[in-house]
Amino acid sequence: MADFSPEILDKLQQLQTKLNDKQQDLGVYLDSMIYADYLNYWDYIQLDTLLTLQKPRTAFPDEKIFIMYHQITELYFKLCQLEYDQLAERGKSGTLTGEFFRTRVLRIANYFDALITSFRIMRDGMEREQFLKYRLSLTPASGFQSGQYRMIEIRSTDFINLVAAKSRDKVSSQSSLTDLFDHIYWRSGATEDGSGKKTLTLQQFEEKYGATFLALGQENRDTNLAALWRNLPEVEKTEELKKALRWLDANVNVNWKLQHVWSASHYLEKKPEDIAATGGTNWKQYLPPSLQLNVFFPELWSAEELADWGKGPMKRDGDV
Ligand code: HEM
Repeated sequence: MADFSPEILDKLQQLQTKLNDKQQDLGVYLDSMIYADYLNYWDYIQLDTLLTLQKPRTAFPDEKIFIMYHQITELYFKLCQLEYDQLAERGKSGTLTGEFFRTRVLRIANYFDALITSFRIMRDGMEREQFLKYRLSLTPASGFQSGQYRMIEIRSTDFINLVAAKSRDKVSSQSSLTDLFDHIYWRSGATEDGSGKKTLTLQQFEEKYGATFLALGQENRDTNLAALWRNLPEVEKTEELKKALRWLDANVNVNWKLQHVWSASHYLEKKPEDIAATGGTNWKQYLPPSLQLNVFFPELWSAEELADWGKGPMKRDGDV
């Protein structure tokens, strides 16, 4: 019988104390360690399940690229949610520092950087001929229905900043959340101008997520990023934090949107007659960031910068 070193005995003691606390038996836990298998990589990351999640609707090989790139994007969006969770938590408990704020905003902006640089997979990585065929079997589904993308918007800024540019004179900071939601920019993009009829894509989307978005807006009134910045003590509002917020704003509202609309044009624009979007939006009037004019932190940009908003890719401020 080997002697146990004082370090091991100390660890056993600590474990005993921890388990005693919850009336658990140390012997049972030691048994479970004896019988348990060693962990492996594929089980830990649920690889086999992950690799079964690609279910194309047609036999065109490139459809799997389309599905997987959307899935990759949604995983990045989920990474973003983790950062928003932590920021909101610190905001609520009054423990948010400028430095923590900066590092988390940079993480989100970094995730978007990865998506922006990889978006060419959606342009040069699929055969247009295949795309134009398999897309028909996806109608009326559209990336427009990405709930996580909308959550990123709602958790980044005040609801009023998500109101459609053409409706901004119809609302004020006194408007109720429901009034603001009625004029939210994406709704205007998927509604027929004359009749006010919603596309099926929008109807499905609101049915699934409408209540969630309103609840999220309510919950994040004081903990969305714009509110967190506003309420931060002046001394914590560093130049570096400001640069990080500007980079996030530029990446989500301009750089990603430009990559996306360029992809849409590559596949859907075919003069003289254009190809309709699966979600049924008048996408050329809707998708360009220079027409949407969405800005999360308007007070962090100069009038000149805002006048050029969305007209071309935006660079990071120096070494942010
Ligand atoms: C070939 C690639 C793509 C094309 C042709 C395309 C096309 C479109 C079109 C036409 C719309 C307008 C809504 C509609 O009528 O369907 C749209 C919206 C949208 N798509 Fe895509 N898309 C592509 C890739 C992606 C990817 C990879 C994502 C990642 C999740 C995505 C996310 C979105 C989002 C979030 C919107 C709403 C944008 C906004 O409201 O400004 N799309 N897309």
